[in-house]
Amino acid sequence: MELNGHLALITGAGQGIGQACAEVLASKGADLILIDKNPETLSQVSDKLSKTARHIISCELDLTDEKRLREIVEELKHKAFIDILINNAGYDRPGTTDKIDTKRFLEVLHIHLVVPLTLIQLLLPAMRSAGWGRIVNVSSIYGLIGGKGEVAYSTAKAGVIGLTNSVAKEAGTDGVTVNAVLPGLTRTPTIENFMAEKYKLPIIENTPLGRMGEAAEVANLIAFLASDEASFITGTAIPVTGGWGI
Ligand SMILES: NC(=O)c1ccc[n+]([C@@H]2O[C@H](COP(=O)([O-])OP(=O)(O)OC[C@H]3O[C@@H](n4cnc5c(N)ncnc54)[C@H](O)[C@@H]3O)[C@@H](O)[C@H]2O)c1
Repeated sequence: MELNGHLALITGAGQGIGQACAEVLASKGADLILIDKNPETLSQVSDKLSKTARHIISCELDLTDEKRLREIVEELKHKAFIDILINNAGYDRPGTTDKIDTKRFLEVLHIHLVVPLTLIQLLLPAMRSAGWGRIVNVSSIYGLIGGKGEVAYSTAKAGVIGLTNSVAKEAGTDGVTVNAVLPGLTRTPTIENFMAEKYKLPIIENTPLGRMGEAAEVANLIAFLASDEASFITGTAIPVTGGWGI
């Protein structure tokens, strides 16, 4: 599997699964556009990878600033053909159905659905014209099974699967594949720093492989879906959960 000659835009590339995607794709030879709102982590990732990837552009950007997002991506796409899009950036706003307020609910829908839709609208036309493109959307196993106290997040991640399948149907005959990956509990800085052990342990107990996943294990699947080897795979929602959810 190699990605020489491809240019991938990865959102939320400053840490966690997005950083792992940047590392794996760079190791396969892809050039990268890395977007994150955190300038420190973004420059750390970019500095580290500049030794391996041929070309890296890093953009500090809050993806929910739609005007700025459109301006930056319009500018980038006129310089080079972006043929791989990895919609990874996301965050959780926990809350049960009776307590979550509309503002928090919409924040979660925005980052997981409006941002990917905007990026797809910006980048898909050139992929279709070229007859080749790869879009990988990071959903979650909660998008299939739901999560107690996670109504906004689970709803958004289920929406990611609907978005994925709809775009897959629209773009398939033009050689563009669109897939979703559904991580289970995955070790990233946010999970390590903000999720209490009492919430992690029951998940691990219900995971047949008996442990948390590593970000690279999700990134390996994403890199495969972004490659030529995955040429007949589209409209899928593939769990990377160690079996949690079966
Ligand atoms: N880690 C898990 O257990 C897990 C499980 C299922 C799904 N996921 C999904 O995987 C994706 C990555 O998760 P993670 O755990 O690596 O997250 P993380 O919080 O560790 O990293 C997310 C990155 O996205 C960036 N980001 C967030 N909002 C942004 C914005 N508005 N503009 C620009 N950058 C922004 C952050 O700065 C951060 O660098 C998310 O979509 C998440 O929902 C994670």
